[in-house]
Amino acid sequence: VEETLVLVKPDGVARGLTGEILRRIESKGYSLVDLRLVQAERDLLERHYAEHEGKPFYEPLLEFMESGPVVAIRVAGERVIEGVRALMGATDPTTAAPGTIRGDLGRDWGLKVQQNLVHGSDSPETAARELDLWFR
Ligand code: GTP
Ligand code: MG
Repeated sequence: VEETLVLVKPDGVARGLTGEILRRIESKGYSLVDLRLVQAERDLLERHYAEHEGKPFYEPLLEFMESGPVVAIRVAGERVIEGVRALMGATDPTTAAPGTIRGDLGRDWGLKVQQNLVHGSDSPETAARELDLWFR
């Protein structure tokens, strides 16, 4: 069965939204396979976000992601990669559709990087690579 990596980012953990985000994933019918609270190190984040190296938001993104603990979750289900991306909503929380995690719970805080509460793997290849990084 397909698996994906979900991260509750430091803003989600700090705002106490971990339970709400887990609730949405579980209510949709997906299974939690593994879960850990992680203070991510630079090295892990550089590998996780390698595709964004050189972009203007890359440094602020790494600083944000190491600013506090994240909850890493291994989630399983048929078409779970697509399904979790749909639950999360668009990257920009201001315009993410209402009904989605980012659309309902996120907003622009005027910071250098979009703080958008969650991460979800975007393809089977990415999911395999990211699960390996966060759950070794
Ligand atoms: P992730 O699930 O976190 O990977 O989000 P995503 O797939 O919706 O977005 P993407 O991989 O393109 O970007 C990773 C993260 O970088 C986003 O979640 C945002 O936090 C941040 N980011 C992406 N694009 C922008 C941008 O144009 N401006 C700013 N300020 N931040 C961005
Ligand atoms: Mg992404």
